[in-house]
Amino acid sequence: MRDKPDTSSDSQEDNPKAASAMPPPSRTAIQLNVNGISHRIDVEDRWTLAELLRDQLDLTGTKIGCDRSECGACTVLMNGKPVYACSQLAVWADGADVQTVEGLAQNGHLSPVQQAFIDHNAPQCGFCTPGQLMTATALLSTIPSPDAAQVKQALVGNLCRCSNYNAIVEAVVAAGAQPGARQGGAA
Ligand code: FES
Repeated sequence: MRDKPDTSSDSQEDNPKAASAMPPPSRTAIQLNVNGISHRIDVEDRWTLAELLRDQLDLTGTKIGCDRSECGACTVLMNGKPVYACSQLAVWADGADVQTVEGLAQNGHLSPVQQAFIDHNAPQCGFCTPGQLMTATALLSTIPSPDAAQVKQALVGNLCRCSNYNAIVEAVVAAGAQPGARQGGAA
């Protein structure tokens, strides 16, 4: 005969008393610059950078698609380099300069690559667009006039479920072809 399952220790979800006895999530005070603005904030150690940006700083331009380092929708720049914000802990951003899509436009003017995306109909549903823009911005800051092969290589980690890749590549190449097109936005 099989043993009866042991129900003597209910799960915390089923037992409010057990849940209330849980210690609060540990938090860490960090400082980071986001789009040129300094923030000092206590973050839960379990928060991702995407959660910090979206849920605490209201920067919802950073999208969460897969939430597991596969799609690139959450791409932001950390110290100038593209990272998946869904897969970075917020505490790891302590002392970092972070740029999100909200930091690309300056004084009401779209960055060259943002404008090129519009001109070339690069967004379809638009969900992946912020991540595409951030990766493209990082590329154009290091290779100001990339060719199509370089753009494709740089954007390999940014998926577009609408499969509008040709237009996206055209847009980034076109942005790089503009005079003085080194991309930036707020650092
Ligand atoms: Fe971060 Fe997909 S949401 S890689």
